[in-house]
Amino acid sequence: MKTLSLIGIGPGGPEYLTMQAVEALRTTDCFFMLEKEGRGKDELIEARRTILARYLPNANPRLVTRASPPRCMDANGYREGVQQWHERKRVLIAEMIEQELAEGERGAFLIWGDPSLYDQTVSLISDLVAAAPERLELVVIPGITAVQALTAAHRIPVNRVGEPIAITTGRAIRQQDPRAIRNSVVMLDNNAEFQHLTDQDLEIYWGAYLGCGDQALAAGPLDEVLEELLALRERLREEKGWIMDTYLLRRR
Ligand SMILES: C[S@@+](CC[C@H](N)C(=O)[O-])C[C@H]1O[C@@H](n2cnc3c(N)ncnc32)[C@H](O)[C@@H]1O
Repeated sequence: MKTLSLIGIGPGGPEYLTMQAVEALRTTDCFFMLEKEGRGKDELIEARRTILARYLPNANPRLVTRASPPRCMDANGYREGVQQWHERKRVLIAEMIEQELAEGERGAFLIWGDPSLYDQTVSLISDLVAAAPERLELVVIPGITAVQALTAAHRIPVNRVGEPIAITTGRAIRQQDPRAIRNSVVMLDNNAEFQHLTDQDLEIYWGAYLGCGDQALAAGPLDEVLEELLALRERLREEKGWIMDTYLLRRR
């Protein structure tokens, strides 16, 4: 039997790992990494290497790195493109496990934030386990998400008493009726979709590079802070070359 762990590493800095995650690092034989194309990839890989150096200072961990398959911009639409992309990733991960992990060994992927939130690795590996349950088992170690890093940094609860919470994407919030927003956390938003949500009596709590050394925060009534926030976001994106942000929209 081979074991594959998906270890949630939190939103950036090494201090966000749980004790359970650190223990899982110590019992891992081989760490797998998929390097994505695009700006920021070096920093995301570097963050993982920093975590390994911090928690396994006397070990020389075995690292297996492969280029992550590029996202398919499929002519048949967004969903089909994503499906094809996931299929390629599944094949690649199966190869890595087959070629790089010996019988009885434990491999691991270090997953940004928590493995269950906007990350498909759990589903991809579950498919591999379902195909060969006698040869592969999956262990999931939870992590602190960008959502928790955001609300902690702003010192707010994610919802007010008894209210529902939605966690959604930039693509989905754009298609939603803005009047239905109560407490919506928006992730995976390259286009600052909040700029289209003025005149809705919303507050925004925004954070970029949360939990990292260069964390940036902004908050206030959306209509009042919009221009300043767009300028800040653009400046940070230019300075660093990429941006990773999350925000909560709350009806006032
Ligand atoms: C592919 S999702 C991964 C989410 C991750 N599994 C989690 O639990 O937070 C990537 C999105 O998470 C958010 N994100 C992750 N880390 C972040 C951070 N340190 N600061 C701000 N947003 C972050 C951004 O919205 C980004 O587009």
